[in-house]
Amino acid sequence: MAGATGTERGELSLQDTSLLTDSMVHEVHAGLARTQKTLSPKYFYDKKGSELFDAITMAPEYYPARTEVQLLRTHSDELAELLGKNSYLFELGSGSSVKIRLLLEALRPRRYIPMDISRDHLLAAAARLARDYPWLEINSVHIDYSRPWDMPDFGPGRYNVFFPGSSIGNFEPHAALALLRKVAMLGGVGGGLLIGVDLKKDVSVLEAAYNDAQGVTARFNLNILSHINQRLGANFEPRNFAHRAIYNETHGRIEMHLACLRDHGVRMQGRAYEFATGETIHTENSYKYTIAEFHALAAQAALFPVKVWTDSKALFSMHYLVRR
Ligand code: AVJ
Repeated sequence: MAGATGTERGELSLQDTSLLTDSMVHEVHAGLARTQKTLSPKYFYDKKGSELFDAITMAPEYYPARTEVQLLRTHSDELAELLGKNSYLFELGSGSSVKIRLLLEALRPRRYIPMDISRDHLLAAAARLARDYPWLEINSVHIDYSRPWDMPDFGPGRYNVFFPGSSIGNFEPHAALALLRKVAMLGGVGGGLLIGVDLKKDVSVLEAAYNDAQGVTARFNLNILSHINQRLGANFEPRNFAHRAIYNETHGRIEMHLACLRDHGVRMQGRAYEFATGETIHTENSYKYTIAEFHALAAQAALFPVKVWTDSKALFSMHYLVRR
């Protein structure tokens, strides 16, 4: 096991966890110092944020989660055949590890390696999985996969990466390509990637998905400020901000922002930031791809399409790609 150390039973460490907070300090300061203030969407996912995200997946307007689940259910036999049994099965951004349950019995992987930035959520999910699938070997990896890390190498065997939920959409296209290249290296030639990718579609459908009527997405967006308050000792007042989500046609992405409602200042670790009414903090991009666009991106990472599935309304796509 190169470059990985064991900590808690079944948990692997591929990054120094204290570095996660160090790099968070730097990234948050750098983002707030910009003309267009920015916070990375990875900071949504403290325990509360992970719970709010799970609640988003149940909102009627948020079609990606339930459409992807429906695709996984409908095609699980075919998926099992393509991915093969007994593989090393990684999941990027595994969250509460619910979707993987749809594949476990059919795939019977040799090992399941969930990777997530939210440690509490990750370990709780792994404990539930271990209880429900006693035959399954699990190695949880607490990681910020948008930063440098070494892919764990378990030796020879078949490798598959499961990357559901269109989380690839959080990355700028050049960074998405870098991540795909890394995933392609993991399994070597023949390694597979099963990835969920949200499709371009009518703006009204897209915008509704990020502006659910019950306001769960708004609470999720605002929670990033509470997370930064807790982790970095800032004094953000969430009431001073409002949730905004709009589709940017030019870039093919949903943008989430927190719009400042009144002029005020925020302090964080000895530095002061001024906020003017109407300015925004850009908290998330969620890129949407046509099937052809995604195939073109994946091809640049030497990942070749084996099969793509979509629902009847062409809301969401699920790709299986293999490194050649
Ligand atoms: C987890 C990044 C796929 O972009 O749809 C949901 C996050 N943000 N609602 C997405 C999210 C607002 C989600 N991803």
